[in-house]
Order: sequence, then C-alpha cells, then structure tokens
Amino acid sequence: LPRDLFRPERTNSAGWDLHSPAELERLEAMRAPFAAPHRWHGGPLLADEAGGATGEEQRLKNPAAPDEEVGRTRLASPDQTRAALAAAAPWRADGAERAAILTHAADLFEQSTGEILALLTREAGKTLADGIAELREAVDFLRYYAARIEDLEAPARGVFTCISPWNFPLAIFTGQIAAALAAGNAVLAKPAEATPLIAHLAVGLLHRAGVPRAALQFLPGPGGEVGAALTGSPAVGGVCFTGSTATARTIHRAMAGTMAPEAPLIAETGGLNAMIVDSTALPQQAVRDIVISAFQSAGQRCSALRMLYVQKDVEEGFLKMLTGAMAELRLGDPWEPATDVGPVIDAAARQDIDAHVAQAQAPGQVLWQGRIPEDGHFVAPTLIRLPGIAALEREVFGPILHVASFEAADLDRVVEEINATGYGLTFGIHSRIDDRVQTVAKRIAAGNVYVNRNQIGAIVGSQPFGGEGLSGTGPKAGGPHYLPRFTRAEGRVAPA
Ligand code: NAD
Ligand code: ALA
Repeated sequence: LPRDLFRPERTNSAGWDLHSPAELERLEAMRAPFAAPHRWHGGPLLADEAGGATGEEQRLKNPAAPDEEVGRTRLASPDQTRAALAAAAPWRADGAERAAILTHAADLFEQSTGEILALLTREAGKTLADGIAELREAVDFLRYYAARIEDLEAPARGVFTCISPWNFPLAIFTGQIAAALAAGNAVLAKPAEATPLIAHLAVGLLHRAGVPRAALQFLPGPGGEVGAALTGSPAVGGVCFTGSTATARTIHRAMAGTMAPEAPLIAETGGLNAMIVDSTALPQQAVRDIVISAFQSAGQRCSALRMLYVQKDVEEGFLKMLTGAMAELRLGDPWEPATDVGPVIDAAARQDIDAHVAQAQAPGQVLWQGRIPEDGHFVAPTLIRLPGIAALEREVFGPILHVASFEAADLDRVVEEINATGYGLTFGIHSRIDDRVQTVAKRIAAGNVYVNRNQIGAIVGSQPFGGEGLSGTGPKAGGPHYLPRFTRAEGRVAPA
C-alpha cells in the first residue's frame, strides 16, 4: 500500500443508529415532507440554458408501488447534447477553492438528508439502511477527493464524460463527478435511465455549492443516444463509466473511433462474486455475512455474493441454518424501517431474474425460495444448487444465491474455477485456518478480498473499491490512485 493511504487526516460521515427510537423519529420527520404524493421535476442542467429544444418527458414510477408516480424529467435532446459538448469548460478555480466547494457540497448533501433518503427509496427502491449507506458514501467521496486535491501534480484532461448505473444512483454518480471535478475537469454527467431525479438533485446541490455550470452539465437520457453522443466525441478527453461489462465494451469501441488515443476509459463493471466457507468457519457468523452479501439491496450490487462454496463435511447443517436465516428476511415496502429487502428496479429486471430461476426449477435445483408481496417489482430471495461457478453463465442482478459444495482436497480447483470466469470484483472467505486464508487470498484474482466478514459496502478511503479482468480497468474508487487518472499524469501516484 502507498504509505500515504490514510493521509490527509479526514473523517468519514457519521451514521445513524436505526435501533434508537429517537434517531429513527428524527429521520422520519426529515423524510416525511417527501412521502407520496410529493413529486419531483427534473431535466437537463446546462451551461447555456438556451441549448435548443428540450427532449421528451419521462415519468418515473416507484418500483415498490408501480402505480405511484415519483416525478417527471425532461430528457436531453440531441441539440442540447451538442450544446453541452460545445459549452463545457474545465474548472479553472485553484485547487484550494475546488476543495472548499466540494467540501461545501458534502455539507449540503448532509443537510438534504430527508429529501435524499426519500428519493432514494421512492425512485430506486432503496431501504432506509441502504439509503443511509448510499448518502454517506456520496458525502465521503466528496470529502475524500477534495482532501486529495493538494496531492495532484498534473493538469486536468479537459472534458470528462461520467456515466453511471441505477443501482448506486447517488454514491457512484457523485463519486465519478467529484473525482473528475477535483482534478479540474469539466464534467458531462449522464445518469441511468431509471434514476434521473436523484441525480438531478445531486447536481443541483453541487451547483449551489459553487461548481460553475460550464464545469458540470447534466444530461439525462437513453444510453444508446445521449450516452453514445457523449462517449463518441473528440471534444471529450476521458470517460468514467460504471455499469455492465457489455456497455463498457461498446463505449471502449466508440472512444477508439473518435477520441485521442490517450483518452482514458475508467470502467467499473460487473462481477461473478464467490465466497468459500470451509469446515472451520464460525457458522453463525458466516450465515450472517452471506445473507448481507447476497440479499442486502435485493442483491442489486456489483459486489454482491452470487456463488457460495461450502465444504461438504458441514454442508447439510450449514444450509439448514442459511435457509432459516433467509426465511427471517422481511420483504416489503422499502420506506418501512423494518424492511430488509426491497423491490428490484423495474419489471424488466424482475422478468429477467424470474426467468433465470424458472430455468433452475425444471432440473430441481431450487433449494429454497421466499415469498413476495403481491404488488411491486419484488423477487423472492432464492437459493439454487449448481455444480460450480462455471455453470453460472452470467451476472444475475438480484437476490439469487447459488451454492456448490467442495471437498477439502479440491480447494485449489475451486480457486481456479472462480478465476476462470474472467471476472474479478469481490471475493469472500470464511475460515479459521490462517495459512489457508493467506494462500487463497493471494491466488484469487479479485479486486476486493474480504476475510471472515461480508463482502459488500466498501468504505471510501479505507477500502478502495474496484475489480480486475472483466470487472473493470481500475484504478480503485475511493483510493489514492484514482484522482491522478483524471489528470494528464496517467495513473502516477503523487508523492506523500
Ligand atoms: P448498464 O451498462 O446497462 O448501464 C449503465 C449506464 O450506461 C447507464 O447510464 C446507461 O444509460 C449507459 N449506457 C448504456 N448504453 C450506452 C452506450 N451505448 N453508450 C454510453 N452509455 C450507455 O448497467 P446498469 O444496468 O445500469 O447497471 C448494472 C450493472 O452495473 C451491473 O452489471 C453491475 O455489476 C454494474 N455495476 C458495477 C459497479 C462497480 O463498481 N464495479 C458498481 C455498480 C454497478
Ligand atoms: N462499493 C459498493 C460495494 O462495495 C459497490 O458494495
């Protein structure tokens, strides 16, 4: 690790104790004004507001209650997209001023806690606990990158396009933008189609904090249109993308055809994440960590556990305990503080995940399945037996966990099998044999390796997050190598 990993001194945002009735009451009071029928309005935020005719209107629905309209947004038209590309101007303020403005934006995010949590639930289906974690991560990104500006040695690249996914509509959206701005670039930000309202709120707060409009423009719209225009233009000096591996490939090809050869693609993509539990693991702890890793956020995390390997000697009792814990999960309205698992993002996601489970029904591989509420885009937490990760052909982005067993003598083969997928995002191991943990951790090809704990929810500044192989290009977000990639210094780490 670089010796300045924990420098400069900085504190991550404070959390909330959801077991404290007083804190819960305070949170409820903050988000109450934004409960249904409150509606939001969004649209492009451009340097030149006269950027041409606006695009179509899109209505956003609550994934847990699809009849409920959460708000409406205008989409960026081709005229507006061209105007934004022409008007983008790097942020000329000096480093200290950029740091002060990004830090002020973090404060504004925290002051907007009630509205942000309400919107995360109603637009993205996030539970209260997930919403709090997401808001904290966004705030931490802003303060972390602001604090690291003083280490930057090279100038900005110019104009950065930032494209983000719906599953972290605030944290990843904000993290990409904060990094590009911290380095002094102009940003063209395109949110995911499903979550433009939360992104609109975030950009509004960044502008209010003092980021100039020409340095940060916001263009909601379809990936294949607005996203393609912003990643296929010689006016752009780099792209920061988080989303599926397939889309990263499309963007890579578009950049190769239009941008200067040195324009970087910083891509964080999908994963086929595994965990190994051996016979020495503490079963209660492993079960708790598996349930968090596979089912929190309804499994809609790139980091989520998809494939569990359990040593054969303990498998029977272990799976009994695991399905018992799965049966305790409370599915339902994510606005309710007691809800553990909310909906998936939309009907298409639900159909896609259900189709995967249906395929496993026929050969009798479904070991356990929960029940779902009648309304809303819910998918039941499900446990599916597979021979191994090679049989898992794709990332199934929902609350579906696959399980295989292994003999102690086969551990090397299991590690090879996991590495052979070509993905390498997160990996977990539960074992009380230190040598085994060290050997497996060294051999596994994954960006983030977690030992005897859950494998989601990396913390900015102390657990830089990012994958290798098909899971991303690096450098890791929330770590010391990230910011220099947004400058002309190309990945060089500034000296301490
Ligand atoms: P996606 O690839 O479908 O979309 C991501 C973004 O790309 C969206 O904003 C979309 O509009 C845009 N896009 C689509 N086509 C485009 C094109 N041709 N040109 C430019 N932009 C285009 O992904 P998603 O469904 O929104 O998100 C889920 C995926 O994201 C999963 O694979 C998940 O693993 C991954 N993810 C990765 C990380 C990470 O840090 N590694 C974090 C979160 C999500
Ligand atoms: N950074 C997010 C996690 O670790 C994706 O779960």
